Parts: sequence; C-alpha cells; structure tokens
Amino acid sequence: MLIFCVFFLFFTVSNGQNYQKMVLIYGEPTVGNGYSTHEISWEQCYSMCYWDTNCSLSYYYSSHCTLYQYGNYSIKQLTSSDEKLIAVKRNLTTDTCPTKPAGTDSYGDNNTLYINRITSDGTYWNITYSITSPCDIGTKLFRRDNYWVCVGVKLFKDCSPYEDARKMCNQSGWESITGPFSSEEMTYFLNQKGGYHMSLTPFL
Ligand SMILES: *[C@@H]1O[C@H](CO)[C@@H](O)[C@H](O)[C@H]1NC(C)=O
Ligand SMILES: *[C@@H]1O[C@H](CO)[C@@H](O)[C@H](O)[C@H]1NC(C)=O
Ligand SMILES: *[C@@H]1O[C@H](CO)[C@@H](O)[C@H](O)[C@H]1NC(C)=O
Ligand SMILES: *[C@@H]1O[C@H](CO)[C@@H](O)[C@H](O)[C@H]1NC(C)=O
Ligand SMILES: *[C@@H]1O[C@H](CO)[C@@H](O)[C@H](O)[C@H]1NC(C)=O
Ligand SMILES: *[C@@H]1O[C@H](CO)[C@@H](O)[C@H](O)[C@H]1NC(C)=O
Repeated sequence: MLIFCVFFLFFTVSNGQNYQKMVLIYGEPTVGNGYSTHEISWEQCYSMCYWDTNCSLSYYYSSHCTLYQYGNYSIKQLTSSDEKLIAVKRNLTTDTCPTKPAGTDSYGDNNTLYINRITSDGTYWNITYSITSPCDIGTKLFRRDNYWVCVGVKLFKDCSPYEDARKMCNQSGWESITGPFSSEEMTYFLNQKGGYHMSLTPFL
C-alpha cells in the first residue's frame, strides 16, 4: 500500500509561463557592486542586462552602464531630474508590463529553488536573492500552481486505513497526505514505489 505525503509547502509566484522583462525606474544602488561596466547608451545598457542570464539589474548614469549579478541589493528611489536609471529584470508569468518592479520570481531546477524578491518601503527598492535546497533526502521539489512543494512516498507493509496513513505522515514530521498533482509527480511517485507490491498500482 502506498501513501503520498507532502513534506513542505512554500508560497511563491509560479514559474509556469516565463516572460522576461526589464522594468525601468529612477534610482541608484546603495548596496552591492556591479560585475561589469560599459560606456554605452541607456537602451544598450538594459538590453545587455536582458540578454545576460547572470544579470539581475543594470544601472545607468552619465554614459556609464553597470551590470549587477543576481544578489541582494538596495536601490534608493530617485526622480527623473537625478538622471540615474535602473532596469530590473523580472521573470513574469504574463505578458504584461508592470509599472513597478516589486514582486517575487521563483524558479525550481533539480531540487534547487531560486527566489528573487523585490520589495519597496517607499524610499528603497530592496532585492533579496536566495538559492536553497529545501527538500529533504527522499523528497523532490515540484511546482503546484502558486506553491512549491517537496513530495515523497512512504510505504505500508499491509493495507491500512486512511487514518493510519495520516498518522504515519504526521509522525514522520511531514505536512500532510496528498495525491499526485501532475503527470510529472505521478511518474515520480511510481518510480519511488520501486518493485514493492507491484500489483497495487495507484491511479489518478
Ligand atoms: C555566469 O556566471 C558564472 C559564475 O560566475 C559563470 O561561470 C558563467 O559563465 C556566467 N554566464 C554567462 C552567460 O556569462
Ligand atoms: C540575501 O539575503 C538573505 C537573507 O536576507 C540570505 O538568505 C541570502 O543568502 C542572501 N543572498 C545572497 C546572494 O547573498
Ligand atoms: C528566470 O527564468 C530563467 C529561465 O527562463 C531561469 O534560468 C532563472 O533562474 C529565473 N530566475 C528567477 C529569479 O526566477
Ligand atoms: C542535481 O543535483 C544533484 C545533487 O546536487 C547532482 O548530483 C546532480 O548532478 C544534479 N543533476 C543535474 C542534471 O544537474
Ligand atoms: C531596505 O534597505 C535599506 C538600506 O539598506 C534599509 O534601510 C531598509 O530598512 C530596507 N527596507 C526593507 C523593507 O527591508
Ligand atoms: C501532527 O499532529 C499534531 C496534532 O494534531 C500537530 O500539532 C502537528 O503540527 C502535526 N505535525 C505536522 C508535521 O503536521
């Protein structure tokens, strides 16, 4: 008998459809350093960042373009008269252009979760970037719409009631019992089942 447990739940923005955009604001970085500087135009400056997968934002002031890699930054908000420009890269889920850069982008790959969060307190735009491996050994990272979850499989020796399954999840410190959300999860669950009780194939 197989039961599926969700191990952990995160709330973030989904990475389903990915539209990369540069959101332009007036400001200057007060924390963090760039990784490359160029004497180019403002249009070339944010285009360069757009095409560079390592670039999180670009800063432009008096013909100098500086690129910043993904990391933690603080950007002081300015007005157009300061002539200091910032372009922040966003991974958006819809093909729309936000007027402000605030939001959270996340991306999951091979049990590694990348989160870039942009917030504003009215004076600063603060950017925090983290790379984590949130899943325990024996669990795998999957996206479920707006959530990231770590899911895993536990096996019973015999058939047991639903309550026992819930108890088993809980006692193992897992969040809750679940079913496969997608065909990717289903494939993972079936692979985890291995050769155990082959006759008991779960179905969606
Ligand atoms: C991004 O940065 C990494 C680490 O510094 C480097 O190995 C890689 O070549 C860079 N990628 C690009 C496209 O510049
Ligand atoms: C950014 O700050 C957060 C804590 O606020 C930290 O967990 C994370 O590792 C930092 N990221 C980088 C790239 O230093
Ligand atoms: C944005 O999407 C690209 C794939 O298109 C991915 O490589 C990158 O890690 C994502 N960045 C964030 C912060 O989600
Ligand atoms: C996935 O991550 C594991 C553990 O960090 C590593 O051993 C493996 O090579 C990675 N696989 C891919 C396809 O990057
Ligand atoms: C943003 O960063 C600034 C400067 O580092 C700091 O003073 C401010 O408290 C931060 N705001 C938030 C909401 O984290
Ligand atoms: C297990 O159940 C107890 C009692 O209902 C609850 O307090 C606890 O948070 C649960 N543990 C997990 C990991 O969900």
